[in-house]
Amino acid sequence: MIYINQLANHVDTEITLKGWVYNYRSSGSLVFIELRDGTGITQCVVAKDEVSEEAWEAATTLKQESSVEITGIVKADERSVGGHEMHVSNVAVIQIAEDYPITPKEHGVEFLMNNRHLWLRSQKQWAAMRVRNEIIFAIHTFFQNRNFVQMDSPIFTGNAAEGSTTLFETDYFDEKAYLAQTGQLYGEALAMAHGLIYTFGPTFRAEKSKTRRHLTEFWMMEPEMAFYDLEMNMNLAEEMIRFIVKTAIEKRSKELEILERDISKLQPLVEKPFVRMQYTEAVDILKSEETAQLLDDMLASRKEEEKALKDEREAIKKEHGSAKKWRKKLIESRQVEIAQRLDQIEEDYRNIPKWKESAQNFEWGNDFGGSDETVLMMQYDVPVVVTHWPAQIKAFYMKRDETDKLALGMDVLAPEGYGEIIGGSQREDSLEVLEERIAEEELDKEVFEWYLDLRRFGSVPHSGFGLGIERTVAWICGLSHVRETIPFPRMMGRLKP
Ligand code: 4AD
Ligand code: MG
Repeated sequence: MIYINQLANHVDTEITLKGWVYNYRSSGSLVFIELRDGTGITQCVVAKDEVSEEAWEAATTLKQESSVEITGIVKADERSVGGHEMHVSNVAVIQIAEDYPITPKEHGVEFLMNNRHLWLRSQKQWAAMRVRNEIIFAIHTFFQNRNFVQMDSPIFTGNAAEGSTTLFETDYFDEKAYLAQTGQLYGEALAMAHGLIYTFGPTFRAEKSKTRRHLTEFWMMEPEMAFYDLEMNMNLAEEMIRFIVKTAIEKRSKELEILERDISKLQPLVEKPFVRMQYTEAVDILKSEETAQLLDDMLASRKEEEKALKDEREAIKKEHGSAKKWRKKLIESRQVEIAQRLDQIEEDYRNIPKWKESAQNFEWGNDFGGSDETVLMMQYDVPVVVTHWPAQIKAFYMKRDETDKLALGMDVLAPEGYGEIIGGSQREDSLEVLEERIAEEELDKEVFEWYLDLRRFGSVPHSGFGLGIERTVAWICGLSHVRETIPFPRMMGRLKP
C-alpha cells in the first residue's frame, strides 16, 4: 500500500491510492476529487478523455465520503494541497456513500458532537488527534529515555484519592467500588518497587459542571519518583512540558497549521524558564492594581476591535454584491470569521467584569477558579508553577512545609487561558502524620492500610504529578474546548456516540 504522506517518493510514477472522497467538484469533462486516506489529502484530477468509459462513469457518480481506489500518476504541484496532484488513469468504487451529514458548510457544535464518529474525519479533528498522538508518544519517549518504567494502576478502586465529591461509584460483586480518579496512590507503591515509574491511563471524575476544561473521563500521565523533593518534581515537570511542546512544534507543524495554531505563542517556552511562585504571591498578583488595570485595558481593546470588525463587515457587505465569484467566496468566509470573533467579544464583555470582580475579591485560602487562573496567566507567556498551597484545599497525602499550614503541592498553569494542566506534590512520608490526616478528614482508615504500609516499610521522601492529556492537547492545539481533544469525549450530558 502507498499512502498520501509518501507521495514525495513516487513523483512521476503510477500508483494506486485507497481512500475516501473528502471533497468533490466537477466541471464539464473534468472531475476533481480531494482524496483522503488517513495520512493526508491529495487532489486527483480525472479527465474524461484520459480514462475508460467505466472509470469516468465511476468518477461522476462519486459523492462525499464514498470509498474508492484511484490509480494515477503522481505530479509534484506546489499549488495543490500537500504539494502533489494525481493525474488519474482509473477510478474504482468500493462503496458509494449515502448523503453525508457533515458538509463543508458550518454546523452547530451539538450536531457535530452527535456525529462525532464521522466528525473525526474532518481536517481539524484529524489534525488534533495526530497532535494528541504525538504528545502521548513524546511523553513516553521523555520518560523512557530517563529510565522510568511504565506501569498500570487499576481502574476499579476501593478508595477515593482526590476528594469524595467526584467519585463514580459502581457495584463490584456486592462491594462498593469506585472508578479511579487518579493512579497516584498505586503509583507510589510502584515507585517504592521500581524507583522511577509513570502510569498512563483513563481516570474518572463525576464533574457536575459543564466547563470547557472538564471531562468525566480523561487520560492522565502520572510519574512518581522515589527520593524526589518538590524542587526536583518541578524541574522534571518543566523539562517534560518543554520536551512535549518542542516535539509537537517540530513533528506536527502541518497539523498545527491546519488547526490555525499561532505557534509563536508556544515558542517562548522552548527557550525560557517557567515562572515559579508560591500561592500567596499568586494571590497578591491576582488582587493587585496592575491586574485590575490589565483587565480594564483588555476591555478597552475589545471595544476597539469590535468597532474595526463592524466597519470591515459593512465594507465587505457592500462589496459582496458586485464581487467576482472567487472574491464572493473569500468575503463569505471572512464574514463567518468576523461573526465568530464578534461572538467571542460579546462573551468577553460578559466575562471580563466578572473576572475582575473575582480576582479583586479573592480571599487567601480559597482555591483558584478557572477565571482566576486565566487572569493570573495574562501576564505570562510561559507556564507558571504555583507551589505552597493552603493545606486545607489540597489532598490529604501532600507533605506540608515547616509551618504545617502550607502543602508542598504544585500546579502548573498553562498560558493563554488554558489553566491547570498539571497537579502534583511532594508526598507525606511520615506514618504518624498520614494517620492523623486520615483521621482529620474522616477517611476510612481501613481502605488506606495498604497505602500506610508504604510508610511502614522503608518510607522515603517522594514526589510525583499528574498531567491531564486533554488539557495539554487543547492548549498545544489552541482548541477552546477539551471535547475536541479526545476521540469520544465523556462529559456531563454526553455519553453517545
Ligand atoms: O490536579 P489533579 O486532581 O491531581 C491528581 O489527580 C494527582 N493525584 C496527580 C498526581 O499527583 N499523580 O489532576 C491532575 C490533572 C489536572 O492538572 C488536569 O490537567 C487534569 O488532571 N484533570 C482533568 N482533565 C480533564 N477533565 C477533568 N475533569 C480533570 N480533572 C483533572
Ligand atoms: Mg489539581
